[in-house]
Amino acid sequence: MELINAINRRRSARKFLAQSPEREQVLPIMEAARFAHSIANRQVLRYLVCLNKVKSLVISDFISLASNIDDSMNQENPASAPAYIICIGPEGDSPSHFADLGAAFQNMSLAAMTEKLSMCFITQFDKTELTRLFELPHNHQILAVFAIGSAAESSVAYNAETLPTHIENPTDSRIIQIPKLRASQITSWIE
Ligand SMILES: Cc1cc2nc3c(=O)[nH]c(=O)nc-3n(C[C@H](O)[C@H](O)[C@H](O)COP(=O)(O)O)c2cc1C
Repeated sequence: MELINAINRRRSARKFLAQSPEREQVLPIMEAARFAHSIANRQVLRYLVCLNKVKSLVISDFISLASNIDDSMNQENPASAPAYIICIGPEGDSPSHFADLGAAFQNMSLAAMTEKLSMCFITQFDKTELTRLFELPHNHQILAVFAIGSAAESSVAYNAETLPTHIENPTDSRIIQIPKLRASQITSWIE
């Protein structure tokens, strides 16, 4: 039951408190990563964990932590996280790497909740610049970046009949509403 609650309550965070998580808080998240599903149990993913605030600021310049309410337009105060996990996998365009990544992220973001941390899966990043910044294992590429920290925003899901084409910025509300289709809308039963 607790697990179902965590699954239902997990939300992506894009605004974070300045304080970086401690290594001890991130270790259980990396433990959760290692137990994730992977195709044929190949376990090809590797992670560069950056808890350094100054280096995280540099990473922030090359990622797009765009909120559903389109904070990417807020150039004066672009969203940034106090820590990042850079996900690395073998070069090549194998969809299985991205499937592994999704499975790992789900484990990690749920484990993060036990440490009162939130995460965001980021696929919009400057691969060239980030690759230049960090030494990658031979024949490896950056597949995704996960932002991590203590959320500085509240985000809750609600049952939606349809998905809005865009989400209005609720300027007078500090709670971000995330529409989720009902299970009955995404499920067909084969009788
Ligand atoms: C494969 C994938 C890529 C994503 N890329 C980004 C991204 O580049 N930037 C971002 O701010 N959010 C990104 N997200 C987060 C989604 O926008 C978020 O999961 C979605 O709005 C639903 O919100 P929730 O995670 O709070 O349920 C990504 C999520 C997934 C699964």
